[in-house]
Amino acid sequence: MTATAADDRALQQAAPWWRPAAGQRLLIRGGARLEGRHPISGAKNAALPLVVATLLTPHLVTLRNLPASLDVAVLAGLLQRLGAGLSWSQGAQGLTLTVCADRLRPEAIDAGLVSRMRASVLLLGALLGRCGEARLPLPGGDAIGARGIDFHLDGLRAMGAVITLEQGVIAARAPQGLVGADIRLAFPSVGATENLMLAAVLARGTTTLRNAAREPEIADLARCLIAMGAVIDGLDSDTLVIEGGHALRGAQHAVMPDRIELGTLACAAAATDGELLLEGGDLSALAAAGPALQAAGVELETVAEGVLARRAPTGLQGIDFRTAPYPGFATDLQSPVMALLTRARGASAVTEAIFEQRFRHVDELRRMGARIALRGQTAWIRGVPRLTGARLLATDVRAGAALVLAALTAEGCSLLDGLDHLDRGYDGMVAKLAACGAALQRGDF
Ligand code: EPU
Repeated sequence: MTATAADDRALQQAAPWWRPAAGQRLLIRGGARLEGRHPISGAKNAALPLVVATLLTPHLVTLRNLPASLDVAVLAGLLQRLGAGLSWSQGAQGLTLTVCADRLRPEAIDAGLVSRMRASVLLLGALLGRCGEARLPLPGGDAIGARGIDFHLDGLRAMGAVITLEQGVIAARAPQGLVGADIRLAFPSVGATENLMLAAVLARGTTTLRNAAREPEIADLARCLIAMGAVIDGLDSDTLVIEGGHALRGAQHAVMPDRIELGTLACAAAATDGELLLEGGDLSALAAAGPALQAAGVELETVAEGVLARRAPTGLQGIDFRTAPYPGFATDLQSPVMALLTRARGASAVTEAIFEQRFRHVDELRRMGARIALRGQTAWIRGVPRLTGARLLATDVRAGAALVLAALTAEGCSLLDGLDHLDRGYDGMVAKLAACGAALQRGDF
């Protein structure tokens, strides 16, 4: 059996709702207007740390509104190998998982699954806190930059962990248990903030995390941990104070809506000159990206059921933006917004300041006729009247979404490869788009 076939079997055992998707390619015929209701799923980047948090207590933790995406299935596979009991249901509250982590085997980590997802590094903090040890192969994930984990490791060391790196494996121990510490992150890293929070809630004493990330997914994790009995102060600020050492109890938590899916679909509505009701979406979570999208000609209106998105009567207009930690412009929206700007009036300058290799969609957009020049970390875009369909390759989760968006607006057909990336990050993207009028089909074309 190949490693992937073995992985697939492990995933299906752990997450029975997950099926390896039939069809390696997506055929997209451009030109259809997107119209109708598009439900916004639970946020992938909130779901992953939340699923890891269930390991912090022997009591039952239930997570509702999980996105049915490949990354969630991979993480479920990892939890099951570690000895956690998983029970799934699907109902009005979306995909729901209850985890029973009363007996954990921290040594039973699945290296194949770890290598598929960067967020598996979050297991370090949780396992160290709960079991006093963790051995983890260096995690995988999208090739969008160097993506070190030095802030994670330095923070855990400050809390008393002894960590060595040997032949690509991180070996971490805290035989006397972790102790609270005063930690300043050199950069407000989302993953490091989450990892250190997960470790700190079970550490003895108080941990102060300075220059912490303020992404809404961090506050979502904190809310769940507080429901489990953790004591955390400073939510939504850049200084989190965590009083550790409280035994955690079971809890229930609903995952926040996906702000990146919201922003991406709002762009798709405007790019196709359609109108989408993005059900359950929360406009405020877009932060700086909200006004930027409006300046680009994406009308956004909060209504009772979510957010209504359409093209402004004045049309699409070039804008300049620079990605930044929250509440700045989210790097995860950079590529979908760039796809929108390829057909906007005038010029745009897009600067990527979080990941150094997050412009791999640019070559693909150029092959569709987009006019984009790259200088360092800035892409200079001059809008063109039309894009044309092409053979395309998705190289990361968000690049995949950007290319789908571009293909939906292009003349003729596009064929997209690299669908694993879309599966990782989005819950039912193809079906949801088709329900709103998009002409697209998955298959082995
Ligand atoms: N960094 C370091 N050392 C560290 C940690 C980070 O140098 O120890 C650097 C990274 O190389 C990067 C920057 O700091 O240049 C930001 O990284 P961060 O740790 O904030 O990102 P992350 O935790 O790896 C999460 C999301 C990303 C999202 C970023 C930024 C998850 C699972 N992933 O990644 O989402 O782009 O925050 O908001 O939450 C995606 O969903 O497509 C995705 C890549």
